[in-house]
Amino acid sequence: MKKFIIKSNELVKDNHVTIDVEDLKKYFEDVRAVDGISFQVMKGECFGFLGPNGAGKTTTINILSCYLKPTSGIAKVENFNVETQASEVKKHIGICTQENIFYNELTVYENLIFFGKMYTIDSKILKSRVIELIKKVGLEKKRKTKAEKLSGGMKRRLNLIIGLVHDPDILFLDEPTAGLDPQSRRMLWDYIFELKSRNKTIFLTTHYMDEADILSDRLAIIDHGKIIAEGTPEHLKETIGKGDLLTFKTEGPKEKLLESINEIKTFDFVLDANYIEEEMITRISAMDGLGKVGKIIKRFSSNDLQVIDVGVQRNSLENVFLTLTGRSLRV
Ligand SMILES: Nc1ncnc2c1ncn2[C@@H]1O[C@H](COP(=O)(O)OP(=O)(O)O)[C@@H](O)[C@H]1O
Ligand SMILES: [Mg+2]
Repeated sequence: MKKFIIKSNELVKDNHVTIDVEDLKKYFEDVRAVDGISFQVMKGECFGFLGPNGAGKTTTINILSCYLKPTSGIAKVENFNVETQASEVKKHIGICTQENIFYNELTVYENLIFFGKMYTIDSKILKSRVIELIKKVGLEKKRKTKAEKLSGGMKRRLNLIIGLVHDPDILFLDEPTAGLDPQSRRMLWDYIFELKSRNKTIFLTTHYMDEADILSDRLAIIDHGKIIAEGTPEHLKETIGKGDLLTFKTEGPKEKLLESINEIKTFDFVLDANYIEEEMITRISAMDGLGKVGKIIKRFSSNDLQVIDVGVQRNSLENVFLTLTGRSLRV
């Protein structure tokens, strides 16, 4: 398996580093939840953190938001150290946690006021901000509804705006749309776009590649606590996924198949080719893969193999993940 580390050199929005992480590690006994990650997030950008369940996304957010001490490494938010200057860091950040944190028995409005009061905000300003936030995410009609009575999508929207009552510049959104219906996802995306347009810095974790693709200016792909690729979505897809992902199901002797795969690997348009034992398919990532299907079938045939099924997947972040890890991101 070829391994790529991609660092995009593309210009970012602003030169101001908002989040600065250097060789960060968090071990829970023998579990290396975060295993030496380094990255920077610039002011006003949405930085996506894309990875499967258990990759280390929430652990990273918990460290950056001062809930968890790292095992080693340095993390700074607005140049304040998250371990030693937590109270300064907390002034700048808002969090939408992976699990909803509100009180079920309080109404939407009461929850927001309750969490707002944890900060020193003038009560008039807080009230008008709460009303505005409720409006922004379309919960006006639910203002007086107890949180427990809201739908899943509404609960996520409430959880998101709870993290915004103190109008922070930097937002940590931990899987904000996980498990939501498409309409609620779309509504949350629209609101995240609006926050971006107001120059908020957003650190977004997700295991949905479409979400990472649409919302992130840059993203890092994290797996087993390590960053395995980083760059703009376009850059990542171009570098690896310019090739399409092809799958072939063949009939014929196994030795012949492995021999063919080795030959196919030498084709200049082929990035990688592997036999996937469990699925009994050959997976090939290739530049202009669609246009090269015929050539590949010809090679299989010349080795006495019959191609009985062909699959083509267009260029996507899913391909990037597959190419890097040999696994699907779908969890
Ligand atoms: N408090 C903890 N104690 C032990 N292991 C933990 C703890 N928190 C997270 N982990 C483990 O660390 C790894 C990363 O978890 P997490 O950061 O929650 O991943 P993600 O948010 O990407 O799904 C997982 O293997 C998880 O089981
Ligand atoms: Mg998580």
